[in-house]
Amino acid sequence: MTLINRYPAISDLEEKARRRTPHFAWEYLTSGTGREELIRRNIDALQAIEMTPEVLPGKLRPDTKVELFGRTYDLPFGSAPVGMSGLMWPGAEKILARAAAKHNFVFCLSTVACESPETVAEIAGGNAWFQLYPTRDQNTQKDLIRRAKGVGIRTVLLTVDVPVGSRRERQLRAGLAMPPRMSAKTLWRVACRPSWAFATLAYGKPRFRALEPYFSNSSNAGAMRSPADFVDGLQGWEFVEQMRDAWDGNLIVKGILRPEEAERSIAIGADGVVVSNHGGRQVDGAPASIDVVPEIFSAAGGRTKILFDSGLRGGLDIARALALGADFCLLGRLFLYAAAALGERGGDHAAEILKLDLVNAMIQLGAKDIADLRRYAPASTKAGR
Ligand SMILES: Cc1cc2nc3c(=O)[nH]c(=O)nc-3n(C[C@H](O)[C@H](O)[C@H](O)COP(=O)(O)O)c2cc1C
Repeated sequence: MTLINRYPAISDLEEKARRRTPHFAWEYLTSGTGREELIRRNIDALQAIEMTPEVLPGKLRPDTKVELFGRTYDLPFGSAPVGMSGLMWPGAEKILARAAAKHNFVFCLSTVACESPETVAEIAGGNAWFQLYPTRDQNTQKDLIRRAKGVGIRTVLLTVDVPVGSRRERQLRAGLAMPPRMSAKTLWRVACRPSWAFATLAYGKPRFRALEPYFSNSSNAGAMRSPADFVDGLQGWEFVEQMRDAWDGNLIVKGILRPEEAERSIAIGADGVVVSNHGGRQVDGAPASIDVVPEIFSAAGGRTKILFDSGLRGGLDIARALALGADFCLLGRLFLYAAAALGERGGDHAAEILKLDLVNAMIQLGAKDIADLRRYAPASTKAGR
C-alpha cells in the first residue's frame, strides 16, 4: 500500500502524530491561548470562503510556481517557523529542510529552533529562510543575522507579535517546563510513546542550537534554557528600522493584522509582511487571520509582498488565501504533524498531499496558475481593490 493511500489526508497525519508524541509535546504544538477560540476561528473563517468554479476551461495543467524576491519556488507555500520543532520529532527541522530542498518550497527556521541556521542552510540552500525574535542583547540578534547571511540565507522574517509569552494553559497543565523537568509524570508520558523515546535517545535531547553560542556559562552549553532568557519582544517600530538598516536581504515583518501597520512596514522598507495571528497562540480575541487579508491587500496596493498564515489545513485553504490577496502561504502545525507522524518521510508526504490538493482545487476551479486564483475572490472581499 502506498503512503498516499494509507495517509491520503493531513488529518491522517495529525491523528498519527497525536499517537506518537508524548502528551507534553502534543500540547505544546497544538495549544493556543485562553479558551483557544481563535484556533477554531482561523480554520472556520478559511473554510467559509466560497470560490465559484468556472467549468469547461479547456486543457489545463495548473502551474503552481511562484516568484518571490527574485527566486522561483515550485510551490506557493512554505513551512512556518516553529520553535522547538525537534521536541515534536527528533531532527524535525532537518527533515523539513530536506523536503523543502527536494520539492523546492520554503523552510523557515525559528530563532528558538533545535537546529542551527548553518545546518539548515547546508541542507536547504536557497530554500532556507530565518526567523528572528528581538533579543535582550542587541548583539545577539545582530550576530544571528550575520550568521544567517554568512551561510547564504537571504530572507529574514522579523516576528513582532510576541510582546511577551502568552498564557497557554494546556501547556501548563501538561507540565511543559523550560528547562524541562524530568518528573515521574514526564517519564511516564515518554514511556507511553516508545517510538518517540527511542528516536530521541538515538538523536539526543532537543537543544536550542541556534542560541547555544550565546549561552554565556559554558557549563550550560547544550542544555535546554528558556528562550525567555534571550527574547525581548516588547519593542517599538525603531526595532524594525534598526533591523532594516542591519539586514540587506529580504526583510519580512511577521504578525501584522492592521492595515496601518502594513503601511508602516512598507514605509520602513519591508519587502513583505506576514498576515498572521501566530496560529491563535497570542491573543484569543484577535480576528481570524484570513479575515484581515483583503484590507491589508488593499492597503498594500502591490507595494509589498503579502504572506499569510494561521489556520491553513490543506491545498484548498492555500488556494483560498491566494485568491483573497496573499502572495505566499506559510503553514506551522501541519508540517510538524507530518514529521511526527512519519519521521523522515513526513516532509515529503506533507508536500505531496498539499500539492495534490492544490492542483486538484485549481483544476476544479479552472485556474491556470497562482496569479489566476485572484479571480476567485468572493465578491464580498473585493471591496476597495
Ligand atoms: C508550536 C509552535 C511554535 C511556534 N514557534 C514560532 C516561532 O518560534 N517563531 C515564530 O515566528 N512563529 C512561531 N509559531 C507561529 C508559526 O510560525 C505560525 O505563525 C503559525 O503556526 C501558523 O498557524 P498554523 O499552525 O495554524 O499553520 C509557532 C507556532 C507553533 C504552533
